[in-house]
Amino acid sequence: MPDFKARTIDWLAAAAGLERTQIATLLEQPPDPKLGDLALPCFRLAAQFRRAPQKIAAEIAASELERPDFIAAVEATGAYVNVRFHPGAFVAAVVTAIQQAGAKAADTAAADSTDDDSDPILIEFSSPNIAKPFHVGHGFSTILGESLARIHSYRGARVLRFNHLGDYGTQFGRLIVAWERWRDDQALEEDPIAELTRIYVRFHAEVDKDPTLDDEARQRFRALENGEPEAVALWERFRELSLESFSHIYRRLGIRFDNWNGESFYSPFIPGVIEQLRDAGLLEHSDGAEVVRLDDLDLPPALLLKSDGTTIYASRDVAAAIWRWQQHHFARNLYVVGIPQTLHFRQVFAVLKKMGYDWADRCQHVGFGTIRFQTGDVNSEEGAQISDFSTRAGNIVKLEDLLNETVAKTRSIMEQNQAGRDDGMTEEEILLASELVGRAAVQFLYLKNGRERDILFSWEEMLDFEGDTAPYLLYTNTRIASIMRRAGGEEAARASHQDLLLLGSESERELATHLAGFDSIVELAARQSEPSNLARWLLQLARSYNRYYAATPILLTEDAGLRRARLALCQAVASRLGLGLHLLGIETVERM
Ligand code: ARG
Repeated sequence: MPDFKARTIDWLAAAAGLERTQIATLLEQPPDPKLGDLALPCFRLAAQFRRAPQKIAAEIAASELERPDFIAAVEATGAYVNVRFHPGAFVAAVVTAIQQAGAKAADTAAADSTDDDSDPILIEFSSPNIAKPFHVGHGFSTILGESLARIHSYRGARVLRFNHLGDYGTQFGRLIVAWERWRDDQALEEDPIAELTRIYVRFHAEVDKDPTLDDEARQRFRALENGEPEAVALWERFRELSLESFSHIYRRLGIRFDNWNGESFYSPFIPGVIEQLRDAGLLEHSDGAEVVRLDDLDLPPALLLKSDGTTIYASRDVAAAIWRWQQHHFARNLYVVGIPQTLHFRQVFAVLKKMGYDWADRCQHVGFGTIRFQTGDVNSEEGAQISDFSTRAGNIVKLEDLLNETVAKTRSIMEQNQAGRDDGMTEEEILLASELVGRAAVQFLYLKNGRERDILFSWEEMLDFEGDTAPYLLYTNTRIASIMRRAGGEEAARASHQDLLLLGSESERELATHLAGFDSIVELAARQSEPSNLARWLLQLARSYNRYYAATPILLTEDAGLRRARLALCQAVASRLGLGLHLLGIETVERM
């Protein structure tokens, strides 16, 4: 944000030979903007200068001192010095700042700031469960978490991405039993998760007929806990197969994790934690189980050890938080996990606090809502397709399927749009672009509203190229790219400061004012863990730009300087649009 007022004070102080503070207290805004943007009344200077105020004003206005270039005129009117800014000065300053920031962003991306030893922001997100489908709920955590990671990195933090895999629990005993009896190696090869899910479901059907299977499963789980090689090897196999399958999604979304410690990793640390709790007198027997009472905080007791001595989810989270702190001394430890786990995290943080860990205050649950698929009006084509889609996987909608379907639909929309165009895209270009646009539509669906709100899924809405969607943002970006191509590329970059000062129309000022708010909106998104702030800001930017574009000739601008300046403004919009989308985890496309 250009600080014209401060720089005007500097100039007036130097021109009058006075202190900045004195000028600052006198300076006012003229009642009539025609007089100028700022005014210095000279009445109270008369005694000091031993001259008439009018004379003082005239002398300051006549100063030979070089003026900052955003000042268009300095005039004496009676006892006032009126300072008028170039109408385009603000717009010019904003465009210049974005050009410089763009160059800087490119620099730091190349430098990859790894030698930074500041306290990191640890962000735990995605965290799917081994041998289970990666569903749209994990999609929420994954897409929201990655955006938060990018937002914090942009703001200069060192970010660590943690994937807290659900790779521990009694279900693995059942899975081992099922694996030995019913697995189909061919099916396993084709779709490991589907096959693991199938045999797991089969186990539950069979156990009704033969309850001894349950005993066997318990035995196998104990074997796993005791580290018996055969059981461990099978478990490792499940884990590998699952990771292999999850990695497709992460690659598709451009996500890399710094840490993959699953729940099982923290399990060995639990006895130590339990001992610590017992020594501190925090552990209590309750119905044979071990709990920490949290009555003073109006929370139900946290269950940490079951009656049979097996550990549970909460104890693994307590151990994990302590491990993370000891390893990383985090500035913040964020858990991007659905709202249903709110109580769980409040209990975990409360237990940590009772153990004397003040850093528990650095831990925060970043909750989010659920996705609903409208069963829809089965008589309409759209409705029928949606209900079809959601029941096919037995009510669990996999993120991969959602992505694939969205990409397919995007592709057919793009094919329709391209049909009959003589400069149309090739089939291969459409294929590539539809993957990016479809993916972006899904990502944006998760990010455009406040994270705690539930999402009602609708194809129509998320693929509306004119609506509040990623396709609309991406399309706006391609339109700017196309203007730049037609202008012959470098012209925007050649706009001089004098050129930029020609930008001063109302719509240009409106665009510049919006653009100037970028960093504070990103700051807000970081503070509230709410990328939706940025998503909405981008939609407003695109709307505002498209209004400008519809009403203003750009390439047809007659004055060559003004044309260069307008192109530079368009380029600044594209630059912020691209950066903003990147911070949401979204890649831009060249054409669509
Ligand atoms: N794996 C869990 C699930 O799918 C989410 C894990 C959340 N993170 C945690 N530290 N408890 O629901």
